[in-house]
Amino acid sequence: MSTARAEMFETAAPPAGSAVALAMRDISHRYGDTTALEGVDLEVRAGEVVCLLGPSGCGKSTLLRIAAGLEVLQQGEVQLAGETVAQPGGRQVPPEGRNLGLMFQDAALFPHLTVLENVTFGLTRMPSAARRARALELLERLGLAAHATSYPHVLSGGQQQRVALARAVAPAPALMLLDEPFSALDTRLREQTRDDTLHLLKACGAGTLMVTHDPEEAMFMADRIALMRDGRILQVGTPTELYCHPSDPFVVRFFGEVNEVTGVVVSGEVRTAFGVVPAPGYPDGTALDVLIRPEAVNVRPVGDPGRHERSHVIMSRLLGRSSLLHLCVHTAEGEEIHGHSRMPGVFLPAERQPVTLELDPSQVFLYPRSG
Ligand SMILES: Nc1ncnc2c1ncn2[C@@H]1O[C@H](COP(=O)(O)OP(=O)(O)OP(=O)(O)O)[C@@H](O)[C@H]1O
Ligand SMILES: [Mg+2]
Repeated sequence: MSTARAEMFETAAPPAGSAVALAMRDISHRYGDTTALEGVDLEVRAGEVVCLLGPSGCGKSTLLRIAAGLEVLQQGEVQLAGETVAQPGGRQVPPEGRNLGLMFQDAALFPHLTVLENVTFGLTRMPSAARRARALELLERLGLAAHATSYPHVLSGGQQQRVALARAVAPAPALMLLDEPFSALDTRLREQTRDDTLHLLKACGAGTLMVTHDPEEAMFMADRIALMRDGRILQVGTPTELYCHPSDPFVVRFFGEVNEVTGVVVSGEVRTAFGVVPAPGYPDGTALDVLIRPEAVNVRPVGDPGRHERSHVIMSRLLGRSSLLHLCVHTAEGEEIHGHSRMPGVFLPAERQPVTLELDPSQVFLYPRSG
């Protein structure tokens, strides 16, 4: 981003201690026999971006739609800025009465209105000169000023999503609700659009709840992530808390493929084919599942290629910022298991290269053995 544009994105103060924009308490929801949500609690503070992350069908959109008032609340309570807007069998403030900005996967612009008219559409309470100025300011911020008089069909998908974003934030809502807003865009456009979106959301100071199934996108956007599975929130916290202190094996696996082995605690540590892992807090004899992120496996070439008695490289692939190594890992019992290592930069040892492995324990996670 150029300096000139960066200045326009001066961010609002951080949300520490700020007001609660959205509070959802004990939300459960069923569609016929399907339980979509079960006892969900979630808060979004003013100025904070919270991402709902989880696999398909886990209830993300249902929770967002309940917050929006697009789904009738069946159990629990929804508050916006401290005011109850939905109670089962009671008050149900409709979406247009909730001071929200909405954005979905499809920009859903009005095709017969220009870009400028699309953005001014929701600004009914302003004088027309002020509406126009507000809309142009937002379009300028999003690099779309030159398209103000264009019709939506001439814009690219990314430009249309920016217009949808400008339209949603124009009335300065207290809460923004976004459901997979970038998923229809290709990789490059998605990265640019979400960067612009993040800075605009932070500049306008609304609380944001955004749905995504992409963990990297959640980490990029979120101050906090709520990871969902089967209608429940499994863990909520900062991206660092979820990535570095996952509360459950599901959380570990959701952020990427891992090497999985088992082991038993001996003298406060677990010996695995990938290396030794300290196991503080687990008594000797405890059976553990050991989840090892590929980036925890540090590979060092040793000796001559072709010697098979050691762990060795099967294949090396450059992925860009890192290299992925497929390994044949030798266990102490003489078995061979398949493993992955992710090494920074260009690191491409030859096929059959013998290696030693060393573990970074900060990206290895221990859980009492399941089953
Ligand atoms: N209108 C509906 N009628 C019946 N079942 C529904 C309806 N909407 C959602 N469901 C079901 O409720 C569950 C949660 O759906 P939801 O759309 O909230 O999931 P999601 O996490 O947003 O999934 P995705 O990532 O695929 O969008 C799923 O089992 C889904 O099939
Ligand atoms: Mg969804």
